Amino acid sequence: MLRASLLAAARSPLARKAVEGNPLTRSVVNRFVAGARTPDAVEATRALIGSGRAVTIDYLGEDTTDIADATTTVDAYVTLLSALADQGLASGADVSVKLSAVGQALPGDGHKIALENARLIAEAAKGVGATLTLDMEDHTTTDSTLDTLQELRTDFPWVGAVIQAYLHRTLGDARDLAVAGSRVRLCKGAYQEPASVAYQTKSEVDRSYVQCLRVLMEGAGYPMVASHDPRIVKIAGELGTGRDFEYQMLYGIRPQEQLAIAGRGDTMRVYVPFGIQWYGYFMRRLAERPANLAFFLRALVTRG
Ligand code: FDA
Repeated sequence: MLRASLLAAARSPLARKAVEGNPLTRSVVNRFVAGARTPDAVEATRALIGSGRAVTIDYLGEDTTDIADATTTVDAYVTLLSALADQGLASGADVSVKLSAVGQALPGDGHKIALENARLIAEAAKGVGATLTLDMEDHTTTDSTLDTLQELRTDFPWVGAVIQAYLHRTLGDARDLAVAGSRVRLCKGAYQEPASVAYQTKSEVDRSYVQCLRVLMEGAGYPMVASHDPRIVKIAGELGTGRDFEYQMLYGIRPQEQLAIAGRGDTMRVYVPFGIQWYGYFMRRLAERPANLAFFLRALVTRG
């Protein structure tokens, strides 16, 4: 119920105004977002790489309804990749891109515009030795995103996909994607989805996660295990013994566990969001965990 309300608020312009307009929110946002500008993302990357972790960086923005905003997002990624290269931090880095931020939702040619924009980012990534992963958004975009993935992979076979264990369809998608050279991030899923397409209880989602994980680990691709769930992390370690895969967690969440995983020699990639449009991302993090919401409310009360 609380999760549903927070996810509804994540899409509400009114709630957005109220949260963004509150100056006290900022200190809490800083826990989950690396900063507003490119140098902030570069510094966060430097610190993470220095501590033995890898990065995937997300320029925050989604649901772009204006072609100029889509171009701004492409430019932000190109600038970021070049700044990382200047600092010797680009090789092995990844960028995560939401197709809705580069035009997918534009009426008419949205799919085509997003594909061309993603191609520009992939070119820039290739030029500096980085990779690109297409984030997955709500279920109405899954087919378009997977089609874009296939088209991009013709020229950039290292472009990665995300699949969401909460969707009924995902076990099939995992089978299709578990092929040689295919980078696949498996997450539980962060959007509010109807029972017609998605599992609704944690135990169902967890069961689906483990089934999909098994398919990815037994397949020929490169699994990327995106979860903070200690049980999932443990199962991934068991299923992945002797094969190449990586763990992924979000910036600011379970940092000690991130360091422990990296410290034992496994690849731990941290998803680093930056930019001024943090609202949707931030609200989805609050919805995931009551403790995050309590932390947020406590900060507001204490500072107030
Ligand atoms: P879940 O939320 O079920 O939590 C399980 C357990 O993990 C908790 O009980 C607790 O023990 C631990 N835990 C979780 N949060 C914690 C915290 N803040 N502090 C301490 N412990 C905590 N989603 C999507 O729809 N599309 C996408 O493209 C992506 N991309 C993505 C990339 C990466 C790198 C990650 C890690 C996640 C995503 N997600 C995503 C988000 C994902 O779908 C999901 O919403 C969150 O990861 C939360 O799910 P968990 O698997 O972490 O477990």
